[in-house]
Amino acid sequence: MQIFIDTADIAEIKEAISWGIVDGVTTNPSLLKKSFNKYKGDRFSFKEYIEKILNLAGPGCPVSLEVIGVTEEAILHEAHYLFETFNTIAGNVVIKVPINPRVPSGENDIYDGLKALKRLHEEGIPTNCTLVMSPEQALLAAKAGANYISPFAGRIDDDLRKRLGKPFDKTDYFPAEGITESGEPSHLGQRALTDGGILSGVDLCRSVMDIIAAYDLDSLVIAASIRNSRQARELAEIGSDIATIPFPVIQDMLCHHKSEEGMAAFLNDVVPEYRAMFQ
Ligand code: E4P
Repeated sequence: MQIFIDTADIAEIKEAISWGIVDGVTTNPSLLKKSFNKYKGDRFSFKEYIEKILNLAGPGCPVSLEVIGVTEEAILHEAHYLFETFNTIAGNVVIKVPINPRVPSGENDIYDGLKALKRLHEEGIPTNCTLVMSPEQALLAAKAGANYISPFAGRIDDDLRKRLGKPFDKTDYFPAEGITESGEPSHLGQRALTDGGILSGVDLCRSVMDIIAAYDLDSLVIAASIRNSRQARELAEIGSDIATIPFPVIQDMLCHHKSEEGMAAFLNDVVPEYRAMFQ
């Protein structure tokens, strides 16, 4: 599984790249707001800030930049602007296009995202279809020519959990097999809460992977909206092409109390002759 880092924070991108595990970077308007506000005091313009991210990632490490327009015309205008302005820096820009750019009270068309994906595909501009919450949306995005498709695993888990009416922390583990109405993991034979038949965020990504594979479609799946390391593991187990993971979750993937305990014991057992060898 390729690992993308789900952040616009330049310090996090730089650090994770130095570990040799980063295959790509995904940003969105909320992530850019958070990090740009953090680094604004360093007197970067917004454009310079984006350039920094692209340079850190470098050639061969795709960086998703999201459009904010809601009509086909606006999405294409912004996609062209982003690609022409920034792809010259490291040749790694991918345009993030919402599957359906309509907000709940909006009046624009629901299919402008698909139309824009199709046009950008014809123009050879790489795209990442975002805000994918169902396998049906993913199938349409793949057919429209999206290079990457991002199902939002964590947001589906949040939505299912919300129905229980109990407080939860977003980073809490949510069982891949779903939960019952009493909030217990759902086992065979037990009725699970579903989102249109989807049991969990991991189940959403599995279904999307199955559909892409069944028809040999060209899109790569980026499991997104990842909340904890166990979810990242379960996405690797189902064979997700890519997972885009926040920095703290990547850090958590590296930790196990037995590794630290073992390290302390090994260091404690070093005989002086062993240490002397290195001096
Ligand atoms: C990445 O492409 C998505 O924008 C991101 O994973 C969303 O994550 P969130 O649901 O934690 O905001």
